[in-house]
Parts: sequence; C-alpha cells; structure tokens
Amino acid sequence: MQNILVTGGAGFIGSAFVRHMIEKYPQYRIIVLDKLTYAGNLDNLLPVHDEPNFKFERGDIADREVVRRLIETERIDTIVNFAAESHVDRSILAPDAFIHTDVVGTYILLDEARLLGVNRIHHVSTDEVYGSIPEGFFKEGDPLQPNSPYSASKAGGEMMVRAYQVTYGLHTTVTRGSNTYGPYQYPEKVLPLFITEAIDNRPLPVYGDGMQVRDWLYVDDHASAIDLVLHEGRPGEIYNVGGENERHNIEITRLILKLLDKPESLIRFVADRPGHDRRYALACDKIKALGWQPSGDLETLMEKTVRWYEQNEWWWRKIKTGEYLEYYKRQYGQRLADATA
Ligand code: NAD
Ligand code: TYD
Repeated sequence: MQNILVTGGAGFIGSAFVRHMIEKYPQYRIIVLDKLTYAGNLDNLLPVHDEPNFKFERGDIADREVVRRLIETERIDTIVNFAAESHVDRSILAPDAFIHTDVVGTYILLDEARLLGVNRIHHVSTDEVYGSIPEGFFKEGDPLQPNSPYSASKAGGEMMVRAYQVTYGLHTTVTRGSNTYGPYQYPEKVLPLFITEAIDNRPLPVYGDGMQVRDWLYVDDHASAIDLVLHEGRPGEIYNVGGENERHNIEITRLILKLLDKPESLIRFVADRPGHDRRYALACDKIKALGWQPSGDLETLMEKTVRWYEQNEWWWRKIKTGEYLEYYKRQYGQRLADATA
C-alpha cells in the first residue's frame, strides 16, 4: 500500500480518517476525491492541507473519466470509499442523488479498479443496511432488509462490492459502522443539530416518542477500525463496527441539554420520520478479534464532542445559512409548528 485514494474524504468520517492516516502513516500518500456536495467541506481537511503526503481533487466518483485519470496519474493501489449521500431524511425528500452516488458511484469505482488493476478496495457501509432489530444484535451474515432510500442505496452499493469480489476476484473489504459522532459532523445529523440548536436556545425536534435506539460510535474509533480492517481484514469479509453504547434518542437529547446546561423545555416531540427504524444494534466480535476496541465511554466522548462545537462556532455557523436553512424549513417547519412540548 502506497497511494491511497480516499473518496468522500472532505466529509465527516472521511476527513477524520484522512487526518488519522496522514498523522500515523507519513509513508503513504493520501489522495482525496470529493465532489464537495453540501456536506463536503474543505475546512474539515485544514489540519492536513499542507502536509506533503496529502492531495485533494474535486470530482464525482460516478464520473468514470475522473476516476480513471486519478487512478492512473496518482498510481493508486488502494481505494477507501466513504463518498455517499448520507442523510436518511434527505433520502426521503429526494432519493435521486443517493442512487447516483451510493449505487452508481460505487459501481464505477469497482469497475475502474478492476479494469486498471487496483489491488484493494475498502467500502464504508452502515448498520442501517440490516434494517431494524427489536432485540439482540445483527451479525455480519444476517440478511439485509434496508428500510429507507438511504439504507437501500447503501445496500445496493454493497451488493456490487460483493459481486466484484466473487466474480472478478477483487480484494474487497466492507465495514458496517453504527451511528457516528464527534467533531466536524454536518449539523443535519441529530447530534450536531441538537448541540448547535441548543447553544442558540432553539427547540430540539425529537421524532415520534423519542424511544428509538441507536448505537453510538466515536468518529476516531470509526476511523481506527477502518485503518485496522484495511491492514488486517481478510479479503471478501465484512466487519460490523459498533460503539457498544446503545441509547434511546430521548436520553441522548437530555444528555446534550445537561452538558450545555440548557432546560428540557427546549424538547419538542414532532411528527415521526416515515419508515423510522426503531433500533440498531451490532455484534462486533469479528472486528474485536482483529484487536479493535472503542476508546472510551459515551458520556466522556459526548462531553468532548459538545465542547468542540461550543469552541468551534467558526466551523458550523457559516454552514447554517443558505441551502441549509431551506432544508431546515422543509424538514422542520411544519413539524415544529405542529409540535407538542
Ligand atoms: P458526509 O455526508 O459527512 O460526507 C460524505 C462526503 O462524500 C462529502 O464530503 C461529500 O461531498 C462526498 N460526496 C458525496 N457524493 C459524492 C460523489 N458523487 N463523488 C465524490 N464525493 C461525494 O458523510 P459521513 O457521515 O462522513 O459518512 C461517510 C460514509 O460513512 C458514508 O458512506 C456513510 O454511508 C457511512 N456511514 C456513516 C455513518 C454516520 O453515522 N455518519 C455511520 C455508518 C456509516
Ligand atoms: P440521524 O442522526 O439522522 O441518524 P440515522 O437516522 O442515520 O440513525 O438520526 C439519529 C436518530 O435521531 C434517529 O432515530 C432519528 C432521530 N432524529 C430525531 O429525533 N430528530 C431529528 O431532528 C433528527 C435529525 C434525527
């Protein structure tokens, strides 16, 4: 491994992975390919921007010419694919971009890798491909039953990864991560949304009864798990990556308010998300057998996260303008108008 193409490296988890890799492996060259959609942000890469082993290229993973040129000119031997449309609520409002990037884009990467002889592809997937589980834990061999256009598009991409491994013998690995949190997360996902709204004393829209369960994974732990699978994972294998920190949404909401010293009167119960998965939970024995562990407990890492948003208003205030406000109005305007406290 020498020249690693990281797609979607200007997003939340991709940029954490790039920062991690640049610091840990000065001998690797990291080339980021990112379309810079609304969620892509070069500020996320500022800490590594001037490093000699870092390079950024703006482009679409579904654009075959761009992908081919980059693989050839940069002599890419490894691809790590983070690029995706990633927000469930946006996938419900407008699924098109999800099919384009998560399905077609993944296929283009696989196909160019095959044609140009790239040794290794790691695909970043999600626990949401399994669907919802009322009790127990999903294992890697369980059937996929995605319920949102987002999770269905991620499952579609994964199926292509599998087909390219089985049919063409591509060396692929997949990680299925759980709900990830930490610095530099676009403030549409529940944690950065609620933290930044609470800082401004604005209402927090909790969907339905707030009793849905998510498993929370700190972003640096997600990045280190992908690093480990890239180096130690077996070809063709899938690895669950969970934080082993299950919480009801309402508990997480109360924790954020407590850490910010804000009143619970900011909570609003609003109309539920259609098709809302009730619970996600992962069995993580397989990645643990490779030697991976989450780095800390949720309360400590959540506090660290909340303080980061408090101290980095420069990062999120400029995002919460323009297109963001249009999306916010579309997603929450009516919901908040009809809300119960
Ligand atoms: P994000 O939305 O913050 O970042 C996605 C990045 O991909 C952005 O920089 C965007 O500009 C880029 N991108 C989108 N379409 C592209 C295209 N066609 N070509 C090139 N770049 C494109 O997402 P994230 O939260 O960092 O998620 C990264 C990956 O991890 C995704 O594949 C997601 O499905 C997966 N994942 C996310 C979570 C989570 O909780 N956020 C959990 C598990 C898995
Ligand atoms: P989200 O961060 O969108 O991640 P995902 O849907 O991929 O799990 O949402 C996490 C949980 O929080 C999910 O159960 C939906 C819920 N949620 C709210 O209650 N209100 C909100 O405004 C958002 C964005 C999410």
